[in-house]
Amino acid sequence: MMPFKLALTFSLVFDFIVQKLQALRKPKTNIQILQQNVLLKYKYIISFLKEHSKEVHLEVRAAYIDTMNKVLSAHFRAYIQALEKLQLDIATSNDLIGVETRSTSLFSRGREPLKNRSAVFALGERLNVLKEIDQPALIPHIAEASSLKYPYEVLFRSLHKLLMDTATSEYLFCDEFFGEESIFYEIFAGPFAVIDEHFNSILPNCYDAIGLMLMIRIVHQHQLIMSRRRIPCLDSYLDKVNISLWPRFKMVFDMHLSSLRNANVKLLWEDDSHPHYVMRRYAEFTASLIHINVEYGDGQLELNMERLRMAVDELLMKLAKMFSKPKLQIVFLINNCDMTIAVLKEAGPEGGKIQQHFEEMLKSNTGLFVEELLMEHFSDLIKFVKTRASEDPNGSNERPISVSEVEPIVKDFGSRWKGAIELMHKDVITSFSNFLCGMEILRAALTQLLLYYTRLSDCIKRINGGAALNKDLVSISSIMYEIRKYSRTF
Ligand SMILES: *[C@@H]1O[C@H](CO)[C@@H](O)[C@H](O)[C@H]1NC(C)=O
Ligand SMILES: *[C@@H]1O[C@H](CO)[C@@H](O)[C@H](O)[C@H]1NC(C)=O
Ligand SMILES: *[C@@H]1O[C@H](CO)[C@@H](O)[C@H](O)[C@H]1NC(C)=O
Repeated sequence: MMPFKLALTFSLVFDFIVQKLQALRKPKTNIQILQQNVLLKYKYIISFLKEHSKEVHLEVRAAYIDTMNKVLSAHFRAYIQALEKLQLDIATSNDLIGVETRSTSLFSRGREPLKNRSAVFALGERLNVLKEIDQPALIPHIAEASSLKYPYEVLFRSLHKLLMDTATSEYLFCDEFFGEESIFYEIFAGPFAVIDEHFNSILPNCYDAIGLMLMIRIVHQHQLIMSRRRIPCLDSYLDKVNISLWPRFKMVFDMHLSSLRNANVKLLWEDDSHPHYVMRRYAEFTASLIHINVEYGDGQLELNMERLRMAVDELLMKLAKMFSKPKLQIVFLINNCDMTIAVLKEAGPEGGKIQQHFEEMLKSNTGLFVEELLMEHFSDLIKFVKTRASEDPNGSNERPISVSEVEPIVKDFGSRWKGAIELMHKDVITSFSNFLCGMEILRAALTQLLLYYTRLSDCIKRINGGAALNKDLVSISSIMYEIRKYSRTF
């Protein structure tokens, strides 16, 4: 039995400590200052109690846990409620790469108009949240006063910044005051539950793949920060958040993927060979994900991006086939590849596998376009060179080439070539949305034309009586001069 007097002392000590704890519950109390300036003075009482009165020590411990659990839970609840008012909605379940704009505008009638529609696919300023990872948490009433709204990942970073700082401070205090870390987890069961409840209401309604990927990176950065602080108390919590974000990201990503696979080609197609908005969305979306993941090589993500690329390729081909003229099909493909490459280049100058794919597609279609364009203006010349003027002097020619066979071709070229080049120039200018891309293609076409004409000239030198046509041949240097004239505008 404990002597009565001693028991009374312990009970007074208990009352004294609990009274100090009451101060923690007062609104506007700076918890950390109170802990540091008031409570820590009594840490010897705590270790004294632990030695001499287990029961009272347990009671003090329980009182502290209960107080802090309630205070911090209320603190986070209030912060979350204030944050929720600042949220800028980015995407709905209809904002998918392959969904035609007409149908989205139909469904979105009555929905709150968005500040910035392009944010669904383009990264824009959103990457800054990773650069400002360690900035202080948002102060909601200040943001609200200036009527600012933020994409969810910004609020997510703020909430987790507050969590990290509060948890770090509480963890260190528990260690110092009670000499045990396990108290932390009992206290934070409250705040964790509050944050979980909020997050579980946000996540199932989030259709913003870019935001989800940013959150995945934010969690990773926060894990690094906590590990640098050597504070392990959020390890399992942050792991859990990471693990809940990935499946949601994958789900939204797969919605984009199926939107491309199941796209309604007839509804999407417009009789316009300029870059298609679906392709622009795809390019921006891909560039955003590449940009966010520059420092992380994630094989799983790369595999998914490859799937998306294959789906968009297939759709692009289907859209191209809707043009009745083969030349327009090629122009459509070139314009879309060129735009995609330009957008991808902004995300990273190295140009990964995806960019290479579109560069190859651009190259092969440029070759096809050049042939189409030259065939429009110089089909007799090209047919002759391809079938009759083989490099091999014997070639496949059964019958020898006569002057009368080549004369009309030479005369036709001589009379029309400058005008035809002018027409090709006009055609290229109007076909290609990107002037530089168009000029590259014109240069390729003129170079190819020069090659055909050189082969014709060489062939004429070899045929009997070919010298008679010399006066009608255009000199290679005049053609080169003309090509250079167009090069000056490059
Ligand atoms: C809209 O978003 C895009 C991409 O996120 C960004 O470049 C642009 O500056 C934003 N515009 C406005 C008015 O916020
Ligand atoms: C996050 O979760 C993903 C998927 O479950 C996993 O592959 C990755 O390693 C996790 N990241 C970290 C930093 O724990
Ligand atoms: C061309 O034909 C002649 C005679 O038929 C033959 O001797 C010569 O080897 C052939 N040249 C080539 C390059 O095949």
